[in-house]
Amino acid sequence: MKLFLDSAKTDEIARALELWDVDGLTTNPKHVQASGKSFRVAIEEIAELFKGTDKPVSVEVNPHITDWKLMVSEGLELSKISPNFVIKIGASEAGFKAVRELTSQGVRCNATLIFSVAQAWHAARAGAAFISPFLGWKEQHGDSASSFVLEVRTMLDNFGYEAEIIAAAVRNASQIGDASVDGAHCITAGMAVYEDSFCNPYTNMGEKVFQDAWDATPQS
Ligand code: E4P
Repeated sequence: MKLFLDSAKTDEIARALELWDVDGLTTNPKHVQASGKSFRVAIEEIAELFKGTDKPVSVEVNPHITDWKLMVSEGLELSKISPNFVIKIGASEAGFKAVRELTSQGVRCNATLIFSVAQAWHAARAGAAFISPFLGWKEQHGDSASSFVLEVRTMLDNFGYEAEIIAAAVRNASQIGDASVDGAHCITAGMAVYEDSFCNPYTNMGEKVFQDAWDATPQS
């Protein structure tokens, strides 16, 4: 399962690339806003960090656009900035049409804001390279997301669609584990979620047990 960082902050992206060799990046308008930079500057700096790699970097079209032709023209413009760029488009009738068109022109797309298997199916049919079910947002609003990745994976496998699932808006290590068991191809989460996922209080307890044993053992 691939590890994508969900961020637009170049300092943390550079750190995650160095320490974890992240497999790719996802951004969204919230992350770009949090970077404190203009959209253009943020994505150009990110492109520079991934230059020379084959790691996918998802960048989202202007979320105000509702006309598929405008989504396509913006997607084409963005895709010229970097070969790493994957064009992120929100789930909608127009969005799926734009995914179909961009894909037919050789531009990879990430269908985002996916909240049902039906939306994931439309994205897969349209040729999306990536499909992003938002697990954390579902749960935040009272829907269970526990079987969502498995259902989307089953749908993809039933029909041989090649899209990769990015388990998105992941909030904790438990969701990472569940998504991996349920067949997500990729995870995307913020830096803090991954940092938490490296640790476990039992590991800390075990380290202390081993340190005490070490200290009580003659070393020569
Ligand atoms: C995924 O591609 C999204 O950018 C992301 O997971 C959205 O969730 P968040 O920004 O609320 O974590």
